[in-house]
Amino acid sequence: MKRGVRAGMVPCLAAPGCALMLRPAGRSGTQEIAGMRVLSGIQPSGKLHLGNYFGMMKPALELQKDGEAFLFIANYHALTTVDDAGALRAATHDVALDFLACGLDTDRTVFFRQSDVPAVTELTWLLSTVTPMGLLERCHSYKDKLAKGIAPSHALFAYPVLMAADILAYQSNVVPVGRDQKQHVEVTRDIAIKFNMKAGRDVFTIPEPCIRDSVAVVPGIDGQKMSKSYNNHIELFGGEKDIRARIMRVVTDSTPLEDPKDPEKCSVFALYRLVASENQVREMRGKYLAGGYGYGSAKKELFEAVWSYFEPFRKRREELSRDPGHVESVLERGAQRAREEAGRTLKSARSALGLE
Ligand code: ADP
Ligand code: TRP
Repeated sequence: MKRGVRAGMVPCLAAPGCALMLRPAGRSGTQEIAGMRVLSGIQPSGKLHLGNYFGMMKPALELQKDGEAFLFIANYHALTTVDDAGALRAATHDVALDFLACGLDTDRTVFFRQSDVPAVTELTWLLSTVTPMGLLERCHSYKDKLAKGIAPSHALFAYPVLMAADILAYQSNVVPVGRDQKQHVEVTRDIAIKFNMKAGRDVFTIPEPCIRDSVAVVPGIDGQKMSKSYNNHIELFGGEKDIRARIMRVVTDSTPLEDPKDPEKCSVFALYRLVASENQVREMRGKYLAGGYGYGSAKKELFEAVWSYFEPFRKRREELSRDPGHVESVLERGAQRAREEAGRTLKSARSALGLE
C-alpha cells in the first residue's frame, strides 16, 4: 500500500511543536510516523551553523528513529550560488562529516549526494511541464536571493522544481525543514497534486512539511534569522576562539546591569534555551528577571553551554575526518539505494506522460 499522510489526525509527538498531523497512537502506543518516509536535504554552500542544526538537522536526525529517513547533500542546488568546483567538493565532504558526527545512523538512514542520483534532474523536467510560472514567481526565497544581489539564473528560478523532484522521487511523507523552506514544500505539494490529476493516478505521495515551532527561526548574533549569507551565524564546528568571539557580539538591548531583563526578548536567552538543560534555563530566566545580572555574564554561560553541547560531536567528527574512505563508502551505499527508489518513481512518471 502506498504511504500517505491521511486526514483526521493528531499532532506529531515525535517532533514536538511540528504542525504535522498523524494518525493517533494505536494499541502499540506509538504514532504512525513509523512506516513513513522522512526526507530532507541541505545545501553544501558553506559551513553549517546552529540555525541549520536546530532548524533542520536535529529534527531530521530525531525522526530517523521513528521512520525511514532519506537525507541528502543538495549539491545540484548549491550550484546556484557556489561557482568554485574545489570549494563545492570540500563543502560537500564537510557536510557529510557534520551529519555523521551529529548522529546520522547509516543503518537507518539513506545518506547520499544529490548529484549521485541524476534521475532527479529528468524528473525536474517532467515536473516543470505542469508547474505554472506564477507558482515560482511567488517564491520568497527566489525574491530574497535577487534582493541579496545574486544574479537571477534560470536555475535559481527553477530551484523549487528541483526541490520538488528531490522530495517526490523518494515518495516522501514528511519533510523536516526550517520555516523558510515551508513554501517550497507547499509548491511541491501543488506540483504533485497537479501531476497526479493529469496522470489520473497517484504517481507521487503528497508530502507534509514538519516544522518545529520552538526552533522555526533560530536568531543570529544580530537578532535576525541566523544565516551564513547574513554572516550572523555561529558555526557548529568552528574554533573555540571564533565561537566565543561571535557569542560575545550577540546584540542585546541597553538595559542597565542592575535592572530586570526580559528573557523572551533576548537572543542570548533564545540561543541558551536550545543548548542548556531545563534547570539551567530556569536558573538563567530567574537571573534575568531578578536584575543585577548582565548580558556579558549571560553570554559567557551561553558560550560554555554551546561548547559543551557539541563536545561529543566534535570528538566524533575528529575521528571520522581521519577516515575519508569511510565517508565516501557511506555516500556510495546511500546513492545506490536512492537510485533504485528514484528510478522506480521516474519510470512511473515517464509512463504517465506517454514517454514509455
Ligand atoms: P542559510 O540561511 O544559512 O543559507 P540554508 O538555507 O542552507 O541556510 O538552510 C538549510 C536548512 O536549515 C533549511 O532546512 C533551513 O530551513 C534550516 N535553517 C537555516 N537557518 C535557520 C535558522 N536560522 N533557523 C531555523 N532553521 C534554519
Ligand atoms: N532548499 C533546501 C535549503 O536550502 C535544501 C533542499 C533541497 C531540500 N532539496 C530539498 C530540503 C528537499 C528538503 C527537501 O535548505
